[in-house]
Amino acid sequence: EAAEKGGFEHFMMKEIFEQPKAVRDTITPRIRNGHIVLDDITLTAEELRRFTKINIVACGTAYHVGVVAKYAFEELLRIPVEVDVASEFRYRDPILNENTLMIIISQSGETADTLAALREAKRAGCRVLSVVNVVGSTIATESDDVLYTWAGPEISVASTKAYSTQLAVIYLLALYIGEQLGKFTQEQLSAYIAALEKLPEQIDEMLKHKENIQFFASKYFNASDMYFIGRNVDYAASLEASLKLKEISYIHSEAYAAGELKHGPISLIEDGTLVIALATDARLFDKMMSNIKEVKARGAVVLGVATEDKKEIAGQTDMVFYIPKTASFMLPSLSVIPMQLFAYYVASMKGCDIDKPRNLAKSVTVE
Ligand code: G6P
Repeated sequence: EAAEKGGFEHFMMKEIFEQPKAVRDTITPRIRNGHIVLDDITLTAEELRRFTKINIVACGTAYHVGVVAKYAFEELLRIPVEVDVASEFRYRDPILNENTLMIIISQSGETADTLAALREAKRAGCRVLSVVNVVGSTIATESDDVLYTWAGPEISVASTKAYSTQLAVIYLLALYIGEQLGKFTQEQLSAYIAALEKLPEQIDEMLKHKENIQFFASKYFNASDMYFIGRNVDYAASLEASLKLKEISYIHSEAYAAGELKHGPISLIEDGTLVIALATDARLFDKMMSNIKEVKARGAVVLGVATEDKKEIAGQTDMVFYIPKTASFMLPSLSVIPMQLFAYYVASMKGCDIDKPRNLAKSVTVE
């Protein structure tokens, strides 16, 4: 097993470090001569034009990819998107028909609730496209189209490289549909593709600064609660950051849309409460700064995550982790990296069983 871990202490860290390659392997074959080429799917431009709605269904980390996907699809395609956790989707009598594109996201391709949602969508006449990591899995087999994430086997229960490659596939798909539907100028498309192709090296660069996160973790790993706040795609990334932390470190954590703070959770902020503020979205940076000031005024310790051009955040926070700039809908691919590292180091300092957290399974095949 030591050999399989390739010199890392845990599979989780190995897989965190595999992300630049996994994302590159997922993207590169699908970009050719300045265009997105999805040979693997059969959807034609005519069929794409028919869709009036997109539904996305998944569980856990894959669901958090779905939350990012909603922002990306709606911004780029102006098609309404609904995202559900699979276990809720089936019991809300969803409105589905042949004009609905159903996107299923699953690392294993075997999650029972997700598979049941797929079958329900097929019964309702939806076209089903799945984003799956395990080749030949049940979800892949039963879908009309599959876009594989080329992450390779993910061993750690806490998902990292599957999340990153699922995001990459979502961006590819959004850009593909957008190109097919004539939503972009050639200039816009080229800029998005350039941003996408840059993600692997940007992730790689951030991983080189892992000690900054390790240092922050060493100061706060004894915390009993943590709050992650963000807006828009930063909110989506907060959901994943909070899940990573609670899965492997057993620390109670919550992710909140920053604007909702004053509708409840701000009552929990007191001297020393740890708040991790994701403030990478330039359009909402000033709003996030106000939220940071609100929690600081109540004694919170704040770790800020911001793009490298927003140095002013340092004046309001106890520590900042800067990330490179990219297209706004792609920001979670970068902001999640320090969050994965943070969860890892906190769990490691607490002596937790990182790769096999208590009560959790890699693949949940019962409802
Ligand atoms: C389990 C795993 C999670 C995963 C979720 C969905 O809960 O522990 O890491 O996100 O299932 O799994 P899937 O294979 O469908 O992506």
